[in-house]
Parts: sequence; structure tokens; C-alpha cells
Amino acid sequence: MKDLSTVILAAGKSTRMKSKTNKVLHKLAGLPLVSYPVGESVKLGLKKLVLVIGKGQEQVFEDALAKRNDIEYCIQEDALGTGDAVLRTEKNLKDFSGYVLIIPGDVPLIQSETLIQFIKKMEDEDADCGVISTMHPEPGSYGRILRDVEGKFAAIREEKDATDLEKCVNEINTGIYVVESKFLFNYLKKVRPNNAQKEYYLTDIIELAVSEGKKVIAHVAEPHEQFLGVNDRFDLAYANKIMNLYIAESWMSKGVSIQDPDQTYIDYDVKIGQDSYIAPFTFLKGKTRIGRGCTIDAGAVLEDAVIGDNVHIRPYTVIEKSLIKEGAVVGPFSRVRPDSVLEKEVKVGNFVEVKKSVLKLGVKANHLSYIGDATIGERTNIGCGTITCNYDGEKKHRTIIGKEVFVGSDTQFIAPVKIGRGAVIGAGSTITKDVPADALALSRTEQVNVRSWVSKKRKKKK
Ligand code: UD1
Ligand code: MG
Repeated sequence: MKDLSTVILAAGKSTRMKSKTNKVLHKLAGLPLVSYPVGESVKLGLKKLVLVIGKGQEQVFEDALAKRNDIEYCIQEDALGTGDAVLRTEKNLKDFSGYVLIIPGDVPLIQSETLIQFIKKMEDEDADCGVISTMHPEPGSYGRILRDVEGKFAAIREEKDATDLEKCVNEINTGIYVVESKFLFNYLKKVRPNNAQKEYYLTDIIELAVSEGKKVIAHVAEPHEQFLGVNDRFDLAYANKIMNLYIAESWMSKGVSIQDPDQTYIDYDVKIGQDSYIAPFTFLKGKTRIGRGCTIDAGAVLEDAVIGDNVHIRPYTVIEKSLIKEGAVVGPFSRVRPDSVLEKEVKVGNFVEVKKSVLKLGVKANHLSYIGDATIGERTNIGCGTITCNYDGEKKHRTIIGKEVFVGSDTQFIAPVKIGRGAVIGAGSTITKDVPADALALSRTEQVNVRSWVSKKRKKKK
């Protein structure tokens, strides 16, 4: 196999996206669009990967691509067209000899297997220059593949420059090319902006190569969805739908049940264990990990959550950057905020918020509570309406509750405060002092019943 380098184009103006953010940095299944062609092309084993970006964009790209160090950046000062963008990489590739694979940064659905088949065909036919084409039922704004009377690939015509007859062609340019390095830059230098958009079109190198008698091929691949170019927000939504189906299909093939893949949103980096069930209207985001045999019910939103085996996340639960261990049940309508740990068999129920807290084995907090900056010992029961008052207006303080404590309903813990093992807190208490192990703590005022108070008051009014 010939040596291979890849050039990915990401310096365009993103006019149709109507966004301050470069279109290839818009997210698809949790990752920027451009990370997909980057990820798929590195699977091929590259000598170099050059990413063409606009002036002043280096930092945003480095951050968006998690500072990966296998990318060489090349700056295109002005977006003068795709041909000019590739020409800028001449200095990056001056010592490289082999095939240059060129991919637009806006084709996130491309698969490495397709690229491999294309390069193999180039090598088998000993071609100098080639493009992947596909048959598209609605070719829209894609460039058209023009063939001569014998069906030989002759040129690419941009839609804006095409005649009505040329626009009827269904075979389109995917924007993915392989060109022999020793010819590439010579052709690019000959490209002129003689077209409707006054741009230097990369597509023009095809006609130049054909006119010089070089071996030029158009490799027809399918399905056409794989080559969807994301130019505007509608394309982005459509690409998201397709990507979502790819991801759901791949998890289903590994033994995960997804009731309605159309209504379930799973980011690219999420992992799910066998025999887990995912209900509709769920969002599994970031680097969320779900164990085996879990149930994730409708409306759950999990972001960077780590979920152990046999956990049940009940409907409309939101979990961020937290660890939920084996056998726990969370929800419905619970919120687990970052840095929380729910150990094995914990039960957190409706309208309970947990933040930066550890709930140890078997803790129950079944209704309407706020547990923030707290550690709750094994098998402790947190009654309905319990609040850890962790913030004094300036600082956050911790509440530490031991094992097997019973916390009566409507208790407030004014942190910092410690509750000893096995203590009982009477309902309605405001706990301001530490409670020793085995003690009963009660802080409510004694109840007063004034007999006949109501009827006497009524009589007075008359
Ligand atoms: C391009 C092709 C078209 C093809 C389609 C496939 C050209 C002239 N047209 O059209 O034939 O059917 O892709 O999706 O190549 N870019 C730069 N610098 C520039 C201009 C663009 O880096 O000066 C980058 C963009 O950021 C983008 C990529 O090149 O990632 C493609 O540009 P785009 O404007 O999307 O081209 P299309 O109109 O889609
Ligand atoms: Mg495009």
C-alpha cells in the first residue's frame, strides 16, 4: 500500500450555518462534526494529518479536538475556496510522497471502511486522481459528476455553474478525493476562480488531470446518506438523526434493548452494557457508562454518569458527573448533581436533589429532599422534606450522618453538623448541634392546644 496522508478542510466561512461558531465545530452526538472525519481517517494509518483552519481558530480547534497531538494545523488566511485551502498545505506535505486523501470537514457520517475501499480501488487501477461519487435522489447543491459519451469521468460541475441539463445528473461529488502527491499542487496552482462564486474550486483539478491524460476515476459508493455534507442547520439535524440510528443500531447489535431508537439520543462516546433497556425520550450524553441489566426509563438525562449493573433510573431523572452503584434505584424526578456517589442499593426518590454527597449502602431518601455536601452512612433513612442547609451565604459546610440513623420528616441540618450512628431525629427538627450516637434529637417547640379557642373567637366577632 502507498503511503497516505490526509487533508481535512475546515476553513470555510460557514455562511449557510448562520453561526458565530465554525460549522464543523457544531456538535453531532456530543462531538464536533470535524472529529468524525478525523477519527475515521486516522484508522487508515496516516503519515500526516493536516487540518486546514481559518486565521485565529487554532485554539478553538485544539480545545474542541481535546488537544490531540496527531494533527498538524495549516492556516488558510482567507476562505478563497476549497482549491485554495488544499494549496495552503503544500508546505506541510512538501516531504511527503504518496496518496493525499482530501476530506471536507463537514461530512461526519463517513466510515473508514468506505475510505479503505476507495483507496484500494485507486491502487488496483493505479489511478493518479480519484473522487468518491454517489447516486443522490435529490442532488440539490452538490457538485455533479460529468461523464463523457463512453461513461468516463470527465469533470465536476458545481450546481451554481451547471446548465439545466447538468443539474439533472444524479451522480454527485462527495467532496472526498485521493490525489497522487506529485501532481496535486501543480494542478492546484493552475486552478482559476472563473466561476459563479469567484472561488478557487478543488473540483477543477479533475478536468486538469483528465486533460493531461492522467488516470482519473470516480468510485461510486453508497448509501448516499454516508456522504451528507452539513452546510446548514437542517443538514445538521438530519445528520444527527442518521448518526443516532447508527449508534442505536450498534448498541442493539450488542444486546441492548432500545424501545424506540428514533426517540432516544445516545452520544458517540457513551457505553452501555448487555441486557440494559433504554426507554424513549432519554438522553445519554458525554462519556456516560451504563452497566449490564439496567433500566433507563423515559425522560432520563444522563451526562458523564457512571451507572453500575442492575440500576434502575426511573422516569425524568437528571444525573450529571456522578457514580451510581449496583442495584440503586433513582427517580422518578430526581436530580443528582456532580460529584455524587450513590452506593449499592441506595434509593433516591421523587423530587430529591443530591449534590457533592456520598450516600452509602442502602441509604433511602425517598421524597422531597435536598442533600448537598453530605455523607450519609449505611442504611440511614432520610425522611421526606429533609434539607441539609449547607450554605451560610459565604461558605459551604458538610453534614455528616452516621450509619442506621433515622431522620424524621421535615428536618433541617444546619451544617457543619455530625450525627452519630443509630441516632433518631424527631420530625420537624432544626438540628444545629452535633447529635451523639444512639440519641434522640428533637428541636421543635412543644405543642399548645387552647380549648374552645375557635368558637370563643367567633362569638367575640358577633
Ligand atoms: C463542496 C464541493 C461540492 C461537493 C460538496 C460535498 C467544491 C467547490 N465543492 O461543496 O462539489 O458536492 O462539497 O459536500 O469543493 N473550506 C475551506 N476553505 C474554503 C472553502 C471551504 O477550508 O475556502 C472547507 C469548509 O470549511 C468545508 C469544506 O471545505 O468543511 C467544504 O466546503 P463547503 O463550503 O461546505 O463546500 P460545498 O458547497 O458543500
Ligand atoms: Mg459542504
